[in-house]
Amino acid sequence: MSSFDVIVIGAGPGGYVCAIRAAQLGLKVCCIDSRAALGGTCLNVGCIPSKALLESSHLYHLAQHGFAAHGIDCVEVNLNLAHMLRRKERVVQKLTKGIAYLMQKNNITSVHGHASFIAPDKIQVADRELTAAHIVIATGSAPVAIDCAPFDDIHIVASTAALEFTTVPPSLAVIGGGVIGLEMASIWSRLGSAVTIIEAQPRLLSDMDADCAKTIGNIMRKQGTTIHLDTMLTAATVRKNQVELTYGKHSQAFDKVLVAVGRQAYTEGLGLDKIDVPCNSRGEIEVDTCWRTAADGVYAIGDVIGGAMLAHKAEEEGVAVAENIAGHAGHVNYDAVPAVVYTFPEVAAVGMTAAQAQAQGLQVKESKFPFSANGRALAAGSSEGFVKIIAEATSDELLGAHIVGAQASELIAELALAREYRASAEDVARTVHAHPTLAEATKEAALGIAGRVVHR
Ligand code: NAI
Repeated sequence: MSSFDVIVIGAGPGGYVCAIRAAQLGLKVCCIDSRAALGGTCLNVGCIPSKALLESSHLYHLAQHGFAAHGIDCVEVNLNLAHMLRRKERVVQKLTKGIAYLMQKNNITSVHGHASFIAPDKIQVADRELTAAHIVIATGSAPVAIDCAPFDDIHIVASTAALEFTTVPPSLAVIGGGVIGLEMASIWSRLGSAVTIIEAQPRLLSDMDADCAKTIGNIMRKQGTTIHLDTMLTAATVRKNQVELTYGKHSQAFDKVLVAVGRQAYTEGLGLDKIDVPCNSRGEIEVDTCWRTAADGVYAIGDVIGGAMLAHKAEEEGVAVAENIAGHAGHVNYDAVPAVVYTFPEVAAVGMTAAQAQAQGLQVKESKFPFSANGRALAAGSSEGFVKIIAEATSDELLGAHIVGAQASELIAELALAREYRASAEDVARTVHAHPTLAEATKEAALGIAGRVVHR
């Protein structure tokens, strides 16, 4: 039997980062994953391959529809989807191999196989038994299925298969107007598919600022995506290589259907019953503020414990748990976790919306600055969207920031830092921002809290 200080189950962003941090702190670490390629959902079938295709499809779309505005005439633009998919695979392979290298470099024992608990300090992987005083569950999440449109992995698919269509589906229905729905709709609509989003709620991106959600919805409609809000899918029938969908008052056939109605904690075959760790009604493992489960020495992090299902949130929890195990004081500031939707333009947020702050009894001030008044955005030809800042009315503390705009994913970092430092809107407003940059819109939005906007 092999013995370790820490066993991490799952080599996604939560698990592998936890393993590396524990090893850095001098602990003997083993990391187990049932996928041969490390990196979990994020690297293999999630964040990274989707970003590769989002970038490629954006360039294709620009060549067709954006370059002419810059005086560049493209006589003929052809899509080589096979090449685009191979490039995506190469990006994924490079990164997953990079994780394998980091595991080796940090002397982490990497085990390939499905892990199952025998006892709180004992794991079985195939015919091998491994023990550790500390075991961290980082098994992530899996797509939620819906009864009326079960996955058949050919016509009705989850996001993994939707990253691997070998031809552009002439028509694609996306069930769910959340993060995955909007990103996948963007990819395939740019590549020429007629995309229809069917969302049950009266709005898109229900966890984000309503103004941002409405703005990106309108922009995506202009880009050619059909969006039905407040609309339930009620039936799906596969017929003649198409899927006949019934939703709201509509009945329509689609070549492919992507179901993106959320993800759920993944604990299948983990043997939680053997260690008396129950899951809650949502299937999540419950933990205390130090990520300890009900079983002594067993911790859980990332998507499997609920909260925001974000790779960077899982990473921070992985670091914090490793530090706690090593006797340090690991901590995650959940008030300063940014979230990004990689549409074009992007949507990004950190902290509270005005509605969330008001629901907590806070008095807020709100300021919004449009990219249409920002020199760099106009020069780049991407002036859609805005930066919105929410501050506490008396203290001026920056409570939240919400952006729709090109490079919002990068712009939000400044505001996450401001939130982490509990900066005031004035701190951001008085920070010198390079000119001309998109980030000047952030400064202007912060200036607006005190009624001091310059360029409007
Ligand atoms: P989501 O929770 O973001 O959105 C699911 C949407 O489906 C919701 O708007 C919901 O109202 C709708 N819905 C639920 N049942 C429905 C039905 N029967 N018919 C029509 N609509 C229905 O879930 P999503 O997009 O699947 O993403 C899963 C998780 O992965 C999220 O927590 C997300 O944060 C994470 N993720 C994050 C990414 C990023 O950070 N860029 C990228 C991809 C995923």
